[in-house]
Amino acid sequence: MCYEKFVRPILFKIDPERIHDIALFWGGVFGKFWLTRKVIRSLYYYKNEKLNISINGINFDNPVGLAAGFDKNAVLMNVLPDLGFGFEEVGSITGEKCEGNAKPRIFRLPKDQALAVNYGLCNLGAETISKRLSNRKFRFPLGINIARANNEDIVMDVDKGIEDYIKAYNFMKDIGDFIVINISCPNTPDKRAFSLPSNFSRLMGEFNKFKITKPCFIKLKPDYPKRELDELIEISYKYKFITGFVISNLTKDRKGLKSSDKELENVEGSISGMPIKERSDEIIKYVYRKTKGKKVIIGVGGIFNAEDAYRKIRNGASLVQLITGMIYKGPKIVKDINKGLVNLLEKDNFKSIKEAIGVDV
Ligand SMILES: Cc1cc2nc3c(=O)[nH]c(=O)nc-3n(C[C@H](O)[C@H](O)[C@H](O)COP(=O)(O)O)c2cc1C
Repeated sequence: MCYEKFVRPILFKIDPERIHDIALFWGGVFGKFWLTRKVIRSLYYYKNEKLNISINGINFDNPVGLAAGFDKNAVLMNVLPDLGFGFEEVGSITGEKCEGNAKPRIFRLPKDQALAVNYGLCNLGAETISKRLSNRKFRFPLGINIARANNEDIVMDVDKGIEDYIKAYNFMKDIGDFIVINISCPNTPDKRAFSLPSNFSRLMGEFNKFKITKPCFIKLKPDYPKRELDELIEISYKYKFITGFVISNLTKDRKGLKSSDKELENVEGSISGMPIKERSDEIIKYVYRKTKGKKVIIGVGGIFNAEDAYRKIRNGASLVQLITGMIYKGPKIVKDINKGLVNLLEKDNFKSIKEAIGVDV
């Protein structure tokens, strides 16, 4: 409440990318020192055994993670466990360093409780980020989200795109606990190259040449035509290394937004937050049903409270993630969601998150 009433109005007066950079800087600094971590922990940390969940041998203290895109260059791993997060996905990390799209490239849409994101995969590249992370132990499970660089010479060429994914994978493969292959960034000029089943199939064929032993997830978008989504699922069965899906990425679809045409006039990019909540819920349910619960789903998109997270779990998600909810509700959202999840589980007589997964499907 304090965040929404006093802090947010000030933050929302400042350019969103600048605030994002400031948050990353201070998050990195606070994470370095025992004392600041302890203060943050005393305010935001919450623990309850009912929230523990083990997935493919990885133990999560709770199912609420930070989604890919907030910590692109991996600087927040030290502080996020104290903020109450159960895990994090860093990235997207590309093979080549990537400058991303021209600024401004992130916009707030308060009437929609959404953001419009047009970062275009800016990040320091896999070589630099892998040096930062290698031989380090992390205090919670770390996911490595890899993508293909949005650079002119790579982005329109499928072969070069595959090379860049593989380059990112090779640098990052020994780091972290699980891998996410992002095939659904909507903010690149090729629009959807690796979302196309034929290109996705080729990409997976290349990854299959490696001995991938870590759990590996494919990040989907929220608005595939059903036939295409079915094809992607079908292809995923062919490759044993695919553990499941992260559902979902941003959408390009602006239909139904509450922001006026004037407010959207100079806004570039794809939409996160409240407008994708239902679509993400529906696809989670669809994929869980279609795969008969055999693929693990990480649910993301429009989570603003415990009910939102719980619905995604009941629809089939084993873990959940967020970004936009934290921007609108403040960092205490993680503790609130975890506490709320325990209440909801108890109300339904479930002893653990695992018992609630997919019960509404
Ligand atoms: C600022 C921002 C940057 C993002 N960048 C990435 C990215 O680099 N890679 C990726 O897979 N998803 C990225 N996403 C998508 C998020 O991971 C997530 O799928 C989406 O925002 C929906 O969750 P939310 O409604 O909780 O924000 C980004 C989202 C935001 C808001």
